[in-house]
Amino acid sequence: MNETFDLVIFGGTGDLALRKLYPALYLAETDGNLHASGRIIAAARQQLDDAQFRAKVSEALKRFLPEKYDEALATKFLARLTYFPLDVNNHAQYAQMKRSLDERVSRTVFYLSVGPSLFPAIIGGLQAAGLNTPETRIVLEKPLGRDLKSSREINEVVLKAFAESQVYRIDHYLGKETVQNLLALRFGNTLLEPLWNRTWVRDVQITIAETVGVETRGEFYDNTGAFRDMVQNHMLNLLCIVAMEPPSSLDPDAVRDEKLQVVRSLKPWTAESLREHIVRGQYRGGTLAGQSVPAYASEEGVPKDSITETYVALRAEIANWRWAGVPFFLRTGKRMAERRAEVVINFKAPPHSIFPGALNPNRMVITLQPDENVRLYTMAKAPGDGMRVREVHLDLDFKDFFRERRQDAYERLLLDVLRGNPTLFMRNDEADAAWRWVQPVLDHWQHEAIAPIGYTAGTWGPPAASRLTAKEGTAWHEETSV
Ligand code: NDP
Ligand code: BG6
Repeated sequence: MNETFDLVIFGGTGDLALRKLYPALYLAETDGNLHASGRIIAAARQQLDDAQFRAKVSEALKRFLPEKYDEALATKFLARLTYFPLDVNNHAQYAQMKRSLDERVSRTVFYLSVGPSLFPAIIGGLQAAGLNTPETRIVLEKPLGRDLKSSREINEVVLKAFAESQVYRIDHYLGKETVQNLLALRFGNTLLEPLWNRTWVRDVQITIAETVGVETRGEFYDNTGAFRDMVQNHMLNLLCIVAMEPPSSLDPDAVRDEKLQVVRSLKPWTAESLREHIVRGQYRGGTLAGQSVPAYASEEGVPKDSITETYVALRAEIANWRWAGVPFFLRTGKRMAERRAEVVINFKAPPHSIFPGALNPNRMVITLQPDENVRLYTMAKAPGDGMRVREVHLDLDFKDFFRERRQDAYERLLLDVLRGNPTLFMRNDEADAAWRWVQPVLDHWQHEAIAPIGYTAGTWGPPAASRLTAKEGTAWHEETSV
């Protein structure tokens, strides 16, 4: 990093900042990736002095990066940190903030790590103090609103004060090493491209399964739900990377233009698909890793009669020449059987079999987390008499090849902001197209008061999700695995 910077984190004492942002910045420090005079300034209402704030961050580093914590390095990192007490609604305090920022630094970045209802106040305060100069960058944390209307309102406020090129809408999934590896796999190899289309692919499945519940975020989550929290952003971004056309280069707009085309090509929802192609679930109590866990409706901050979904499975289709007719199944949920994020490409069966017994169609499983590997299921001759074939798999485990430390998603994205590379951030038109596609689902659930179906914590979700795939003659990956 060869530019000095002032990075201001609004919401700098919050959960996200302590759990993700400071640890990510500390990791960047371990690799010498932060300019020696770069400063990090946290802003929040709590009255703290610099020493108290640094103690808080030090505690967070020890807690969230226990293996990486090094006293000398932490001291160097903590010395960059200062604290600025401020209520974002008090415009007079922004002029004070301006005085405390170093006008000689090459780059000032404002990170809005607060709920979106505070965005307008912060943008207004920055604008009133003249802090929205062309050299500044602004990072917007998700959720960017709760529907199409509110996201447009936020964007309007932001884009009145900043040019689109100054705005970095973060989706930490795009910063994950494994998600970027999907790009490398698709566009760094010729092997897959001839197969990557409707001629050879029967269906695609994208899963982000979590074992955690809503933890301390019950109130936030109950106003949000899995569809807004995961599908509108992380899952659609994964879908774009799986389905996009090869970009002409890695230039930010070349990549984002192709992603946008995918979202724009998603088949709009109809009355029938809203009824038949989406499953809304909510976890009941159950057992996970031998421990009993409570129902969602008994979590702290969640009303007993909540009808918020903690699980979504849906069938989407991309209406273009490459993908027409290929079902894309997306699902995500809390308190599921395993923590696993994966992309499964189910290929079509051979058109004619010369072997006795059934032939399993080929399947490629790209695991994004917790492991990073690609498994290709193929048919092979079973040893012995006769010509019987059986399913075997070829494994490619990336940790066998790469010994280097993987960058954390927030670390990569924060460095990209400081360096001015927006490739992995959502452009306004992408975010807007994603909201446009999800809005009919939100409206349908609200108008029809669609209640989620219960599923037992520690399972793969409601049985209705299996019917979703079965209707298309396929099954979720874990239901077919050997
Ligand atoms: P928290 O509630 O933990 O933190 C909110 C922060 O904002 C605190 O630092 C709080 O400090 C500050 N704040 C609140 N009101 C004001 C105000 N009027 N003026 C100045 N500061 C204020 O939230 P999170 O950190 O969990 O989340 C922040 C945003 O990031 C949310 O939109 C959340 O949805 C999103 N997010 C969070 C994730 C997570 O894992 N936590 C993951 C992805 C997104 P104080 O009260 O002292 O002012
Ligand atoms: C966040 C969601 O954006 O992503 C959380 O708000 C979710 O609810 C998290 O748990 C999942 O991220 P990861 O990186 O742990 O898969």
